[in-house]
Amino acid sequence: MKNLTLIEDVWTIDREHVDVLIEDQVIKEIVPHKTGTQVNKPSQLKLIQGQEGLLSAPFVDAHFHLDATLSLGRPRLNESGTLFEGIQIWAEQKPLLSEEDVYERAKTLIHWAIARGTLAMRTHVDIGDPQLKAVRALLKLREEIKSFFDLQIVAFPQDGYLRQANAKALLNEALDLGVDVVGGIPHFERSTRAGQESIEQLCRIAADRGLRVDMHCDETDDPQSRHIEALAEQTIRFGLQNRVTASHVTSLHSAPNDFAAKLMPLLVEAQVHIVANPLINITLQGRRDSYPRRRGMTRVDELMASGVNVAFGHDCVMDPWYALGSADLLEVAHMGLHVGQLTSLAGMEACYQAVTQNPAFALGLKTPSAKGFAVGDRADLVLLDAANPIEAIRLRANRRMVMSRGQVLAETPSVKTQLNLPNQEQLTVDFRL
Ligand code: FE2
Repeated sequence: MKNLTLIEDVWTIDREHVDVLIEDQVIKEIVPHKTGTQVNKPSQLKLIQGQEGLLSAPFVDAHFHLDATLSLGRPRLNESGTLFEGIQIWAEQKPLLSEEDVYERAKTLIHWAIARGTLAMRTHVDIGDPQLKAVRALLKLREEIKSFFDLQIVAFPQDGYLRQANAKALLNEALDLGVDVVGGIPHFERSTRAGQESIEQLCRIAADRGLRVDMHCDETDDPQSRHIEALAEQTIRFGLQNRVTASHVTSLHSAPNDFAAKLMPLLVEAQVHIVANPLINITLQGRRDSYPRRRGMTRVDELMASGVNVAFGHDCVMDPWYALGSADLLEVAHMGLHVGQLTSLAGMEACYQAVTQNPAFALGLKTPSAKGFAVGDRADLVLLDAANPIEAIRLRANRRMVMSRGQVLAETPSVKTQLNLPNQEQLTVDFRL
């Protein structure tokens, strides 16, 4: 017997009021609300009342560090708030890591992410440890959760692919163990020349192995840091179009407009995906500025207008680089909207797409559709206490139900606040107008 679920009375992101029928793991029908979904045996139907909530594709985190997450304070806090002190603290912590410790912290973070409606994530893993303990921990976790969560792992040479003596061998070993994506950090190599050399070598590895690339690229306020150009060039050279992501690219915030204008068409030609990490970019960048102090996040509006696929990532939750966070991509979208001044209707909706369809596309999971989901898609869905994507961002709306492959994985009841004001009737506050 087939498992049938009807999610009734919901809005799609393109503002259609619909009912959605799910058969086993797949979306079977999307019909206008209450026009009579064709279900032969209502008795076997599980009904989910949408109550005019927003039914959305799940959130996809395009950029995270599961090996470092939830390690805040080990062995000390980041006093300067800079990327480089964070890297130093991580270097102090690394020798103390155990496979079990990484696994447990990463698993907890994945639970938080699912509760927040995230069902796919690309995590970078530092391959600098000769025993690859973190790699093994995350590969184990990926295997355990693969029936309900898409976890992609990037082999990330945190201390430099060419700069760390044994990084080349360790990166190849990590890929041999089954890590999905080739990482890099060209701006952290010893020189611009070495950065470019690392890009070439890493793209060659990806092409040879048939893998995707996701590099930390130009995560600095230095307007002269332009590895993004070299990455796009090598992407085309090795035929990796649509398979390469440049993460952060914060230098582009500070680069001259003439350089940006030349770069945009090159990124489109190379089909390079760009991932901004708003919570982290706004806190780590601009640290050497007095005032005015730069925001640091890359040129999200210009990139989007040029036709580049731009996604937002969370990057960090409670680790050496960021003390806050709760694995909530609506918080990420909220910050991205503000930092990028994406306040037009189209801009706000684009911020929602930057945590749903766009990262899915960057990760190679699916091609974005207007609704975010379509008949025949796997039934991966999130039901939000919001009428539309803008309200979802405004309220960081409650995720009432999270469904992966037709199975409800998480439920969070709606919370109502009761007001008891002097000389007035009792009120219930509803932030949805
Ligand atoms: Fe990162």
